[in-house]
Amino acid sequence: MTDFPASDSPAPASSASACPASDSPASASPASRPCPADWEARFRRLVLDDRPFDMRMGFFLAYYRTFTTPESAAQVVRGGALLRDPEKRTIDTGVIIYEIIANGFDSERGEAATAIMNRAHSHVRATNEEFLYVLLALLVVPVRWVADHARTPLDDAELASAVRFVEELGTRMRLTAIPATWEAAVAFFDDFEERRVAPSDDVRQLFDRSAHVFGQMMPAPVRPFTRTLLSALMDDRRVNEALGLAPAPLLARRAIFAAAALASRMPQPASLRFRPGQHVGKTYPRGYTMEQLGPDAPVTPPSAH
Ligand code: HEM
Repeated sequence: MTDFPASDSPAPASSASACPASDSPASASPASRPCPADWEARFRRLVLDDRPFDMRMGFFLAYYRTFTTPESAAQVVRGGALLRDPEKRTIDTGVIIYEIIANGFDSERGEAATAIMNRAHSHVRATNEEFLYVLLALLVVPVRWVADHARTPLDDAELASAVRFVEELGTRMRLTAIPATWEAAVAFFDDFEERRVAPSDDVRQLFDRSAHVFGQMMPAPVRPFTRTLLSALMDDRRVNEALGLAPAPLLARRAIFAAAALASRMPQPASLRFRPGQHVGKTYPRGYTMEQLGPDAPVTPPSAH
């Protein structure tokens, strides 16, 4: 295992305005989709405007992939932020990714968010492959969620934009060998899960702490069923076993999937729309500044905002 390269240094030259070269092996694959030139704006529209519920749910479920292997879980335990303050760690992770999506990689806020994320990883001892797995979870989990539960799957341009966004995110994290097509991403992701996902005390401890955060976001009557809900939503035997989740009863699964399908089809409430700097749950009830994000930021009590 190698130290992940610390990256306080400037981001590499941007490739954000160009899709992968058409003569690259990935683009030459017959299964690959042409990448639209406006992929960043398309992905933003998809996440923020067109399918805010589905993409948020997909990202949330992807988040747990950071610690479904004993090796990565050990690193997250070592990092300490999740056990210290699981709500802030969970919210900050989401907010940092959404800041990049909403503002763009090359915007001031996007660059600040990327720098916070890279700084947070500067002491993480993980391989390129372990980082790729978490990176690709941000693609594979939401896209599969949409395919399984939303009113329509993503169209080709949306899918290509999502692939390109994740590729750019990985590039800015200095990852290498990032799969550049959906098919390559899925192949990598499924193979990694088969080989590496497994239970450990760290995996379970981290999940128990962060499942609690998910429960707190649910309406009060649903909270006692948080683990059943998450088991159904994760919908993956290997991952659920690693996280210590019992299989959800069939009737519960059906009810949960029906509710998810309904939420996906209903007019999306304005509260689902991410607005940079504005309030987020109990962590930032009156909004946040970029300085408050990240594991090293001082935690400001909500009453002091
Ligand atoms: C490329 C995929 C990844 C993305 C997009 C990502 C995203 C993030 C973000 C946004 C933060 C900041 C959270 C905060 O402000 O509290 C963060 C922190 C952190 N991440 Fe990742 N991460 C990735 C991969 C990994 C992997 C593979 C590991 C472990 C092996 C890991 C371990 C950590 C740790 C230890 C922190 C510092 C906070 C803590 O102590 O938990 N991350 N990550």
